[in-house]
Formats: sequence, C-alpha cells, structure tokens
Amino acid sequence: MSLPKAELHLHIEGTLEPELAFELAARNGVELPYADTDALRKAYRFEDLQSFLNLYYELMAVLRTERDFEDLANAYLARAAAQGVRHAEIFFDPQAHIARGVEMGTVVEGLWRALARSEDVHGVSTQLIMCFLRDESAQSALETLEAAKPYLDRIVGVGLDSAEVGHPPVKFREVYEAAAALGLRRVAHAGEEGPPEYIVEALDVLGVERIDHGLRCMESPELVARLVRDRVPLTLCPLSNVRLRTVDVLADHPLPAMLDAGLLCTVNSDDPAYFGGYAGDNFDAVHSALGLGEERLRELARNSFLASFLEHDEELRAR
Ligand code: HPA
Ligand code: ZN
Repeated sequence: MSLPKAELHLHIEGTLEPELAFELAARNGVELPYADTDALRKAYRFEDLQSFLNLYYELMAVLRTERDFEDLANAYLARAAAQGVRHAEIFFDPQAHIARGVEMGTVVEGLWRALARSEDVHGVSTQLIMCFLRDESAQSALETLEAAKPYLDRIVGVGLDSAEVGHPPVKFREVYEAAAALGLRRVAHAGEEGPPEYIVEALDVLGVERIDHGLRCMESPELVARLVRDRVPLTLCPLSNVRLRTVDVLADHPLPAMLDAGLLCTVNSDDPAYFGGYAGDNFDAVHSALGLGEERLRELARNSFLASFLEHDEELRAR
C-alpha cells in the first residue's frame, strides 16, 4: 500500500533483517547462534512480548559501529519509502547498546548519518525518539538522559518500551519531568500487555502526547471517552499484535471498533523485520483481514500526519 503516510511507531533495532544481521555479524566477527538466515527466521515464533524481546536484544550484538547503525537506518528508510512512508519518527534503545559497550555517540551519530540524508536519498523526513527500557531502573533512565545531553539537537523526544507488565509509567516520573524541562516531546508504550490504568498513568504522570499501542483502552469505556475527547493519538501495530499474541488473529483486531468509537488511530509496523511487514504491509493487512475500505485507509493515513510531531505546514507538505 503506497498511500502517503507517516510512521510513528518503529523501533530501528526491530528493522534488522536476518540478511543484514548475518552481514554485520561477519563484518564485526560476532558469532550468531543460528546456522543461517533460514534457521534464524525459524526462531521468529513468539509467545508474548518477552519471548520477542529476548531475540530482539540478542541480535543487537551485531550492531557495533557507526556504520552499522547507518546501514540499519538506510535499509529501513529504503523499505519504508517503497511503501509510501514520507515521514518517520524513529525509536531507538540506547540502554541496550550502552550495556554492550556501544556508546550513545556511536548510536546517535551512526543513525544520524542516514537520517541527515534521508529526505534527499529516500524522500522521507525523520525524527529520533530515544526510549527508556522500562525493565531497567529509574536511575538508569536518568543516566541515559544525561548521556544524551550532547545529542539533544538530534533527538525530538523520549519514549518508554520493553517489558511492560510490572513496570508502570509512574516508575519514570522523574526522568519524564527532566525530559520535559529539556523541551523534549513525550510518548510511552502503554496498554500493549499492561492494563488500561497504565495508559491513564502515562497521560497523567508522564504527560505523554501519544500512546504507543494503547490497545487495552478498549477495556475501559471511560478511558476511551477521554482519549476521544482529548484527541490522544494511538500508534497501533496490527501485525505486531498478532505475532506477540495480543490478539489471536488479525480478523479479531479491535481497530475497526476503535475507529468507530472515534479514537485517533494510526497504523504502524513496530518491529517489521520480526513481525512480517513494514508500514504498507500493515495497511494491506488491515484492508484485507478487517475489511477496512478506501475511506478508512485514507483516514488512517491522514491521522498519521495529524499525530506526528511535524509542524502544520511541514505536515501538509509531507502528505
Ligand atoms: N513493545 C515493547 N517494547 C518493544 C517493542 C514493543 O512492541 N518493540 C521493541 N521494544
Ligand atoms: Zn513498540
């Protein structure tokens, strides 16, 4: 589906395709515990979010140099552009790299080499969102924000990802306050596996402008009414929800009901190398499995620009 769209929920580390993983492994002398790309692809069967995260963190071992991060981002941007993405707000997980001895500067500068040229090379404008790992400590998040200070001209905002249940948003109150004071935009994953209360907390305690996933808001009519009233965007990822078993099959996905309820929904790819498709593939999937027609797809594409961090005039140009 090549409808012009913005991608607002995309983990750059989740765009690492098996072929590139092996190429980088060879380049960096890293041994992967898989015989070849077929064997690796066979490991892409997940029970839940944690079983995916285990592989996601394991494969990051191949990302070591600025050039690796540049190649990763360029590969994503080329694929995204081919599927109609005109603007991408890209998550990255610095703690997962710093813990392996790869510095913040290597990650940001490497990604930036690709992002700085993306409009010219791929026709895709970009922004970077730095995520904190919620299963790490609040102190570690504060240290990560500190480490990012030399690079804040390249980072538009902060997010919160990784294992959700047992790690409520309130744990990160202090680092979100510090991020806000630095002028950073705020988003957070909430209501993917965690309860609707985490969505409320992300809004009330962290002051987020968008909710990543947010699927479980549908369990609380009161929360749905609030999200509709306040026009809070939700960055849904339908293929991710199926692969991580948040929904049993795509035909059961609540997206049509969410749109009918008046929620500001967007469709995104999350970790496309792992979940079977990029942004356009997710649009195609909701078209064929959920019967969403042309009108609804156009609404989703329009929502993606409205929910982006682009200024209004930039947004109109990107569409
Ligand atoms: N949820 C939480 N953390 C993540 C995800 C996700 O879908 N992808 C990468 N990190
Ligand atoms: Zn995500």
